[in-house]
Amino acid sequence: MKGNDFKGKNYLVTGGGRGIGRSIALKLAEQGGNILINYRNDEESARKTLRECTSIGAGASIFKADLSTMEGITALAEYCSGTYGHLDGLVNNSGIYEGETLEEISYESWQKVMATNINPVLFLTRALAKQLKTSKGSSVVNISSVLGFVSDKYGFAYQSSKAAIIHLTRSLAKSLGPDVRVNSVSPGFIMTDMNRDGWGDSEFKSKVEKKTILKRWGKSEEIAEAACFLLSSSASYITGANIVVDGGISL
Ligand SMILES: NC(=O)c1ccc[n+]([C@@H]2O[C@H](COP(=O)([O-])OP(=O)(O)OC[C@H]3O[C@@H](n4cnc5c(N)ncnc54)[C@H](OP(=O)(O)O)[C@@H]3O)[C@@H](O)[C@H]2O)c1
Repeated sequence: MKGNDFKGKNYLVTGGGRGIGRSIALKLAEQGGNILINYRNDEESARKTLRECTSIGAGASIFKADLSTMEGITALAEYCSGTYGHLDGLVNNSGIYEGETLEEISYESWQKVMATNINPVLFLTRALAKQLKTSKGSSVVNISSVLGFVSDKYGFAYQSSKAAIIHLTRSLAKSLGPDVRVNSVSPGFIMTDMNRDGWGDSEFKSKVEKKTILKRWGKSEEIAEAACFLLSSSASYITGANIVVDGGISL
């Protein structure tokens, strides 16, 4: 990646207040990008990330929107268009996990996970496509998961939503090319709030470590590295790809 790749450019990171989204926002900010951080409930974390970005000189703002609804998606897209004349990168990162089995899953839970995880990837990207096309070399990065291609007995809706993201990435790459590149990143087990119950349980934590080729959990900064590579000009000939960042657990 070139040192000044993001300088003066405009980025939107959904769910950018904490976890993987925060690390992506900070990495873009460190390299001079302007960041719009979307959050849903956790205003305190969003404000903290905002301060971290502005303290290193980045232009940054936060916007509350529930992206499981069309109202939230439309409001964020309108705010983004009003804030930035053009957009250089969109990171569809926000998401939720529900660990239900086949027997446990309810229709409501399926709908909630699907709406939260997939809808912004399609409808927010579409709403911002014109703004992205205005920028030369713009790109979209969608955060999927290894559970998008490895199956499990838990998290039925989550797995299907993440598989859909990998496929949507390819369809969007075809639809938005050649102006906008669209790629996805599939993390393995990363230590964030999402799976705090997992890494907080020493037995489960070491089970994951044993199954991972690199023998440890991943850090959100390591996902940010891959996402920022895909956003950068170093990835100028990559579109429709899915980069797996999982320490080898899916092998
Ligand atoms: N951690 C892992 O091991 C792992 C592995 C594979 C993939 N992933 C994926 O990586 C992405 C980030 O996860 P994470 O681990 O950083 O999780 P996290 O710490 O739980 O953060 C999730 C983020 O998504 C936001 N969000 C959730 N529902 C939303 C909604 N309806 N509208 C807008 N924002 C919403 C949250 O906003 P608030 O802060 O306002 O609640 C939060 O910022 C997710 O797509 C996840 O599926 C994570």
